[in-house]
Amino acid sequence: MEKLKVLIPGSRLKKMIALLARRISKDYKGKDLVLIGVLKGAFVFLSDLMRELTIPVSLDFIQLSSYGAGTVSSGVIKIRKDIDLPIVDKHVLIVEDVIDYGYTLDYLLRFLANKKPASVRICALLDKPSRRKVKVAVDYSGFKLPDKFIVGYGLDFGEKYRNLPYIAAIDQK
Ligand code: IMP
Ligand code: MG
Repeated sequence: MEKLKVLIPGSRLKKMIALLARRISKDYKGKDLVLIGVLKGAFVFLSDLMRELTIPVSLDFIQLSSYGAGTVSSGVIKIRKDIDLPIVDKHVLIVEDVIDYGYTLDYLLRFLANKKPASVRICALLDKPSRRKVKVAVDYSGFKLPDKFIVGYGLDFGEKYRNLPYIAAIDQK
C-alpha cells in the first residue's frame, strides 16, 4: 500500500491557476489560441485553467506513450492520439501536468512544429527541475517540486489517484 503526503492543497492550485490564466489571457489577447492538452494527466488542470481564461480558445488533445504502470520513463515517446484540429498559422499552447525528464515536451514541441503553427508555447502546472535530462523552455510554469513521484489532480500511479483534488507525494513501501 502506498502512503500519500499532501504537497499542494486544492486552494493553492486554484490560486496559481488563476494567476497563470491571467497571464495567458493577457499575452494572447486578440490572437487565435489553440489549447492542446496532453492526455491523460493534464485534463484536470486544463479544465480548470480554460475556465479562468478570458479570451476565446479552441481545444484539442494529444496522447503520447506514457510511463505505464511504473514510475520510470523509458525515454521512448510515441504518439497514441494525434490532434484533430488544423493548427497551421495558429498560436498553440501545450497544457501539461508535469515536466520531469523533459523528453515528452521536447518531442511534442518538434512534433507540433512540423504542423507549421504560428507559435508554440508550454504551460505546465508542475515542474521537477532537478530531474531534467533535456532542456525545455516552459513559458508558463506553476509549482516547482522536489524529486518525488507525485499523484492527484489528474496525475496517476498505475491509473490510481487521478481524482484527488490536491497534489500528493507517494511513498512506495
Ligand atoms: P518526462 O518526459 O519525463 O518529462 O515525463 C513527463 C510525463 O511523465 C508527464 O506527462 C506525466 O504524465 C509523467 N510523469 C512524470 N512525473 C510524474 C509523477 O511524478 N507522477 C505522475 N506522472 C508523472
Ligand atoms: Mg502526462
